Amino acid sequence: MLLAVFLAVPFLVQFVSAQGSACTRYYTVQPGDICDKISAQNNVSTYQLAVVNDNIIDPECDNLNPGSSICLGWTGEDCSTTYVVQLDDTCDDIAYAYNINETIFWDNNPQLNQDCTNLYVGEVVCTAPTVIVPPLPASGTVPASQIPATATPALPYC
Ligand SMILES: *[C@@H]1O[C@H](CO)[C@@H](O)[C@H](O)[C@H]1NC(C)=O
Ligand SMILES: *[C@@H]1O[C@H](CO)[C@@H](O)[C@H](O)[C@H]1NC(C)=O
Repeated sequence: MLLAVFLAVPFLVQFVSAQGSACTRYYTVQPGDICDKISAQNNVSTYQLAVVNDNIIDPECDNLNPGSSICLGWTGEDCSTTYVVQLDDTCDDIAYAYNINETIFWDNNPQLNQDCTNLYVGEVVCTAPTVIVPPLPASGTVPASQIPATATPALPYC
């Protein structure tokens, strides 16, 4: 039944990663969705949602199409252990709270700069204890590395 639904979706190729990994999770876009809401509700990091949908969702995430199906994660590269950033959080705090070291935290959240100044409220970070997110897209551009115009930095007074 599910298979039939997915086969009916055109451009099936978009559900396969550059490395040929298959999509493990799908989501149907709802009216009023924004990317970080989808991420928070489905335990997908902001970075992962952007990479997996690099060819579909634009960097501002203003072209979501209600009713369309998007992929949330690829086999073997699907971080589903996540945390939604709150005001005053730091990268160190989050890594400490989840008992993960900084190497793994930054490997899983490559959109964050080393000073963590681009962390923002509502961003969804991967807090898995092993490195599990997809690599950067072929373009080499790191998605989700800018704080969205409408978002608040996690540490606004830095
Ligand atoms: C997201 O993770 C939380 C905490 O582990 C869990 O309770 C919730 O069911 C998960 N939601 C989804 C959609 O996987
Ligand atoms: C974090 O853990 C990984 C895997 O155990 C290890 O390779 C890495 O050196 C550690 N990094 C730090 C900063 O401790």
